[in-house]
Formats: sequence, C-alpha cells, structure tokens
Amino acid sequence: MPEPLLDVRDLRVSFRTRTGPVTVVDGVSFAVAPGEVLGVVGESGSGKSVSMLAVLRLLTNPNVTVSGQVHFRGRDLLTLPDREMRAIRGREIAMVFQDPMTALTPVYTVGWQIAEQIRAHEQVSRKEARARAVRLLSDVGIPDAASRADAYPHEFSGGMRQRAVIAMALSCDPALLIADEPTTALDVTVQAQILDLMRELNARGSAVVLITHDMGVVSEITDRVLVMYGGRVAEEGPRRAVFHGPRHPYTWGLLDSVPRVGGARLRRLPTIAGMPVSPGSLPAGCAFAPRCRLRHERCEELPALVAGSADFEHRDACWLPPDDRAALRVTARTEASGTGTAQEVAS
Ligand SMILES: Nc1ncnc2c1ncn2[C@@H]1O[C@H](COP(=O)(O)OP(=O)(O)OP(=O)(O)O)[C@@H](O)[C@H]1O
Ligand code: SF4
Ligand SMILES: [Mg+2]
Repeated sequence: MPEPLLDVRDLRVSFRTRTGPVTVVDGVSFAVAPGEVLGVVGESGSGKSVSMLAVLRLLTNPNVTVSGQVHFRGRDLLTLPDREMRAIRGREIAMVFQDPMTALTPVYTVGWQIAEQIRAHEQVSRKEARARAVRLLSDVGIPDAASRADAYPHEFSGGMRQRAVIAMALSCDPALLIADEPTTALDVTVQAQILDLMRELNARGSAVVLITHDMGVVSEITDRVLVMYGGRVAEEGPRRAVFHGPRHPYTWGLLDSVPRVGGARLRRLPTIAGMPVSPGSLPAGCAFAPRCRLRHERCEELPALVAGSADFEHRDACWLPPDDRAALRVTARTEASGTGTAQEVAS
C-alpha cells in the first residue's frame, strides 16, 4: 500500500455512563491510501459511526474519552488545535452522514451554505461563490438549480438534501470523503445516483471511507473492506480477498447470509445467529466468542489483528490456525447444521 492518507492507530473511545465507563471503540487501527475507497461494515452498534466521529473530532460530549493517533497528511488530528481542525474539516476532509440535516443549517438557503463553504476555504467573491454553488447543485442533479439555490433545506426532499451535502463535499475537492450510510434513508433510484456522485468524486482523486449496510455496494465500489465487530476490527483487507477468501468467522456469517447471484439484492447487512455484542459487556477475549461455532479455549484471550501467511495486506483477529480457513469455514457451516465439534477443528 502506498503512503497512507489517513492512518488511524489504536483508536479508543469510551463513554462515561451512569453504570460506569463503557468502551465502544477498542483499539481500532486502519489506513486509507490516497484515492482509495474503504468500505466499513459491521452490525449495528459495532462502533463504525463513533470511530469516524472520533477521527473527525466531532465527539464533543464531555463524557467521552478518545485516545490513539489519527495521522492525516503527516499531522495527528487528535492533537491539532481546534482552529486547524476546523480548516481541515470541510476542505481536506468532507463528510456526508445519513441525515443530511446534520450538515445543513435550517435557517440559511442551500445555495448560500454551499457558497459560504467555498468562501471559507477560498478567496473568491460572493458572486463567484454563488455561481459555483449553482453549478455544483446542477452537477449533482438538482433541477432548475439557479432558483432552487434560494430554497431552504426544509424545502428540499431528503434525496435533494443529500445531493446538496454532496455538492458541498464536491465544492472543495477533498482529499478524503467520510460517508456514513449516506443512502440508507433514500429510495433505491436516488441511492444509485448518490453512489454515482461518490464514484465521481473518487474518480476525481478523493479517497472515500464509506460506511454501509449494503454488501452489494461494498462489493461494487470499494477497494478494501474493514469489518468491525464489538468495537474492534475483526478483518481487513483488499475487497477481492475479503469476499473470495474471508478469514474471520464473523465475516463468514455475513457473507454466507448474502443471497447468491440472481437472488434479491441485499440492502441491509445480513443478521447472523446469536445476540449482538453489547459494548458494556464485551468479553475479555474475542468479542465474537459467544456466537462463534469454532470458539475454543484460546478465544478467552484477545486475538491480535494479524496477516495470514498468504497475503500480508489481509488481516484478521482470530485464534484459528491461519492456514486452511476455507476448510474451517466449511466446518463452521457443518457445525451450524448440527454435526461435528468445534474442539476437533481447534485442536
Ligand atoms: N453518547 C453515547 N453514550 C454512550 N454510548 C454511546 C454513545 N454514542 C454511541 N454509543 C454506543 O456506542 C456503540 C457504537 O455506536 P455506533 O453508533 O458507532 O454504532 P454503529 O456501528 O455506527 O451502528 P449503526 O450501524 O447502527 O449505525 C453503541 O453501542 C452505542 O450505543
Ligand atoms: S475462533 Fe475464537 S478467536 Fe476466532 S472468531 Fe471464533 S471465538 Fe473468536
Ligand atoms: Mg452508525
């Protein structure tokens, strides 16, 4: 992998709650190369959003503690003064969240907000900024952009608001776009259009971190995949490697539940057997152990994220022997159907 654009190391986030501190992101490390698309998947509550909010320093709750390192273009974002961080957000790193209203202010027109975003980072006249805002709105498919620019966010539909937020992201050609389920609330046609816009941004050179529940999207547009489980990275690697040779039992569960080609297109992350992990009660060892058919004694210790012998870019956190994971996956399936024992595999 070339020199990373974003290099997150040992990120930890905990919240102080009435019942004591709860760690929801527990030593997450990952990197994003310039121009790369990283897909982030994991079930609800696995810490995807909190991790990205921590990277962007948007967790302002006084009860939150963040530690680790977030290197971006040679600087550690976690130690930057607020002013410098604000300059990075919006210009070098753009964000698109599930609810576009978090990025739009209800009391200003959409066009004004995009123009101000341009003016915050570039020395251009109001008139020029407004003309660029209109062009951008038109580029993202807002009909009659010159007059729609004067509308307020509540006068836009959800899909149009999301396009406006993407227009804002496009306005500054960010080196990195972090998109957290940007299409979940939208209908299928609009989803496809928003994904096209993100592809376009990527084609213009921006790296993208895309959190999504849609494994179809992951398989279509990402270069690499990060699978999170219980606030930790379960598996990470090039898309092809993860889809064709998944290594972690949680990833097996995810992929085995995806309908085969010709089946219904899967829009939500598949659910797998067993109760989701609760961050307040993470097991000391592997977080997936309570649901894992191949758990064995060693799983009471925390497995490190390490590469298998074949591909140093493909890493997973599991105590199973590194070779023959494909065979172990078959064994896990057999286990699921009620024959064989985990001990046979683990020993
Ligand atoms: N302010 C908070 N105080 C305490 N716990 C929180 C707070 N915000 C988030 N959490 C917890 O952090 C964990 C991770 O949440 P996060 O929103 O990152 O999950 P996610 O992976 O993005 O899930 P989803 O797919 O549902 O968006 C959850 O268990 C959540 O309850
Ligand atoms: S085999 Fe053990 S370490 Fe691997 S996923 Fe299962 S419980 Fe976790
Ligand atoms: Mg989330």
